[in-house]
Amino acid sequence: MTDLVLKSARLPDGRIADISIDRGVITHIGSSGPVDTTIDCRSCLCIPAAIDMHVHMRDGPQSAKEDWGTGTQSAVAGGVAAVVDQPNTMPPMESVENFSARVAHAHETSFCHFAINGSVTETADLTGLWEAGALAFGEMFAAPSSYGSALSPEVIRSSLVVLGNAGALTTVHAEEVRPGEVHSLVEHAMLRPVSGEAAAVDLVNSLAPANARLHYCHMSGAASIARVVTRPGNSYEVTPHHLFLSFEEQDPSNTHFRMNPPLRTKAERMELWRMFESIPVIASDHAPHTTLEKAQPFSTAPSGVPGVETMMPLLMNAVFEGKISLDAVVAKTVTNPYHILGLAAPKIAVGSRADIAVYAKQPEKILPERLHSRCGWTPYEGMAGVFPVTTVVGGVPAWHNGEFSRGEALWFAGKGKSFTAP
Ligand code: DOR
Repeated sequence: MTDLVLKSARLPDGRIADISIDRGVITHIGSSGPVDTTIDCRSCLCIPAAIDMHVHMRDGPQSAKEDWGTGTQSAVAGGVAAVVDQPNTMPPMESVENFSARVAHAHETSFCHFAINGSVTETADLTGLWEAGALAFGEMFAAPSSYGSALSPEVIRSSLVVLGNAGALTTVHAEEVRPGEVHSLVEHAMLRPVSGEAAAVDLVNSLAPANARLHYCHMSGAASIARVVTRPGNSYEVTPHHLFLSFEEQDPSNTHFRMNPPLRTKAERMELWRMFESIPVIASDHAPHTTLEKAQPFSTAPSGVPGVETMMPLLMNAVFEGKISLDAVVAKTVTNPYHILGLAAPKIAVGSRADIAVYAKQPEKILPERLHSRCGWTPYEGMAGVFPVTTVVGGVPAWHNGEFSRGEALWFAGKGKSFTAP
């Protein structure tokens, strides 16, 4: 008896078949035999579920914004089966003790697979965190942001020496911040310009020893990407908000569109679309803040937007509109990020871990009330998205027809994890 069958599903290569799943693994693709649970996938597209390699799941004292439960429900309801949590948490991921407590808590409450990155700060125990299972390090702040202070060039250099020698990936928040108070989206963009982002990329590239592996987070302009690719082996990500939103298209005083790096001009985001094919990774930088926090004056409102649940729907809508290819979306949200992180990517293939998202091809209006992040708002309100009807995580339908179930969420530890005797 097979555990689960996704019946009559359209596969990424266009075939229609039943996907049989046993103990979390795809065991057969073709016609199915006797089965415990069947999900009817007629006229639905089944693709490998995404990994979002840049999320802030908050929790602890920041649980009013989000916690592991709500953040990962939001992930699976958006076709994401794995998240990589950033270390600017409260408390920050600087010590093995904080890190191990977060891993244990995520194990108990996460609805999807997860990894946790280690902090890069002057006081972080880089070696201890690597041996405790940090998947990667960073985002490493080369400029101040919400819950992150800028590091000095000396700390960046010495940290990259340790992490390069360990073989760990370092993810970089590259920005330069000009002095001054900001009162609008345009001022915010001017004090954190693309030219500063490009200069910060140059600086970090110049401080990195040859063996350091760098991944640049949320690149917001073509000029910065041009600097990233000058160093062999570098990778980078672009966020949905820098692809789908620009400051000119918003009310200039609306703090909900304030994030770091800031929204750019429409011309700049069109430039990102022109180079879409060459972008290796799309990641959301899911950074929820409460509406109360966002109600502060522009100058003091925190930076960050939620996005883990809307990333795939926005991209899948663009696929169904014929604007981008399905292959490109799978490459940027599954194959490439898993490869960069040194993890095996799920596939629609026998033997693969069954992380599968099922899309019904129906666009919907993105509305805050149908989303699941605790923050309760979205910068994409009113835009079209194609949401998954089902997201299977390790063989369990973690999201199906509006209901959540917790299966076995895997912890993806990094390669430095020391052997622990059974
Ligand atoms: O806008 C942002 N918010 N950018 C960051 O780098 C941090 C994030 C947060 O944690 O809120």
